[in-house]
Amino acid sequence: MSLIHWIDFPKIGDDRGNLVVLEENKNIPFSIKRIYYLFDLQSDIPRGFHAHKELVQVAVCVKGHCDILMDDGKNKETVTLGSPDKGLLIDVMQWHEMRNFSEDCVLLVLASDIYYEADYIRDYAEFVREVNVKF
Ligand code: TYD
Repeated sequence: MSLIHWIDFPKIGDDRGNLVVLEENKNIPFSIKRIYYLFDLQSDIPRGFHAHKELVQVAVCVKGHCDILMDDGKNKETVTLGSPDKGLLIDVMQWHEMRNFSEDCVLLVLASDIYYEADYIRDYAEFVREVNVKF
């Protein structure tokens, strides 16, 4: 499991503009059970601050940009999401924090399952303990 795993989506472009296709079990490496998006975000109010036990997600900034800190319990890296043709895989047990949202940022997230609060680890100390047991 690498910390930063980008997925490049082919752009179907012509003189009318661009089109990107996201397909489950093709360029999205799971069956998509849920889609949600974040918008009207505040650049100085970070979000996320959790990891998932089972859920796998792909985040795509379809408009604007934001930073995302990825942390697997050993290494941390911050990357910028800002291309509608690039997705970031958020694998199981990857602590993530999103911040520095541009005013126009729309962050689309595709998820491998429906929403279960029980799948979240929202306490960083618990995450570090669990990740060291698991991996
Ligand atoms: P939260 O986990 O705080 O968002 P973020 O990770 O972006 O900081 O979620 C905000 C609220 O929305 C929280 O009450 C849980 C709820 N929620 C759902 O009901 N369903 C969902 O699919 C998601 C992602 C969140």
